[in-house]
Amino acid sequence: MNKILVSLLLTLGITGLAQAAGDAAAGQGKVVVCGACHNADGNSAAPNFPKLAGQGERYTLKQLNDIKSGARPIVEMTGLLDNLSDQDLADIAAYYASQKMSVGAADPKLVERGEALFRGGKLQEGMPACIGCHSPDGAGLAAAGFPKISGQHAAYVAKQLTDFREGNRTNDGDSMIMRGIAAKLSNKDIEAVSSFIQGLH
Ligand code: HEC
Ligand code: HEC
Repeated sequence: MNKILVSLLLTLGITGLAQAAGDAAAGQGKVVVCGACHNADGNSAAPNFPKLAGQGERYTLKQLNDIKSGARPIVEMTGLLDNLSDQDLADIAAYYASQKMSVGAADPKLVERGEALFRGGKLQEGMPACIGCHSPDGAGLAAAGFPKISGQHAAYVAKQLTDFREGNRTNDGDSMIMRGIAAKLSNKDIEAVSSFIQGLH
């Protein structure tokens, strides 16, 4: 009885996933224009263009929808997603998820402070540690839509944290998770934790 139930649930789950999931192979043919900034495999060379390779599918798809709708305005990408369907966006997210993110290096002078924030947060100020949601190795939690941040360009990470803090990025939901966290970070904190994240793997 239990076995039947489990296999039924598995079948339903897998079917549901197959319908919602994108097709990575199809996605590869839809990202040609994106390669100019994010590189063909999603490992962008410029530090202000985020790496997309190896990012969780659910998170990337949410960002693509937010960028397309204007909930997350990105001037460099103006109009680029307008003619893409929901299936196109799902395929693109699946393609990048199937790639491997390259790793960077941390500034040795910033590692200690950056790692302390990443692993310990600022408990006395009520700021939880990053590992609680982004996991101890920074890989995130793909199924929950918590992004992978390890290996990401420090300049991009620092800009996101600053944008959350200043209210220039507001697509972190009604609970304002990241805006609440970034509000507790000084510029020096942001510099240190971003450098640490860039070298994390
Ligand atoms: C002219 C350069 C440029 C092009 C072309 C471009 N992007 Fe971007 N993209 C950016 C920049 C810059 C950001 C980050 C902006 C910021 O600081 O928030 C970004 C952010 C993103 C993000 C969010 C990443 C994250 O970690 O949250 C995704 C996803 C993305 N781009 C996908 C695409 C796709 C798919 C295409 C092609 C259809 C594309 N981009 C084309 C410059 C570009
Ligand atoms: C309670 C859970 C939680 C904690 C703790 C947390 N984050 Fe996040 N973080 C998220 C979620 C969820 C998002 C995605 C928001 C969205 O959908 O746009 C995110 C997004 C981000 C992004 C943007 C990623 C990208 O590719 O643009 C960065 C950078 C980030 N977090 C860094 C941190 C750092 C550094 C810490 C610790 C100081 C931290 N986070 C703590 C949940 C969390």
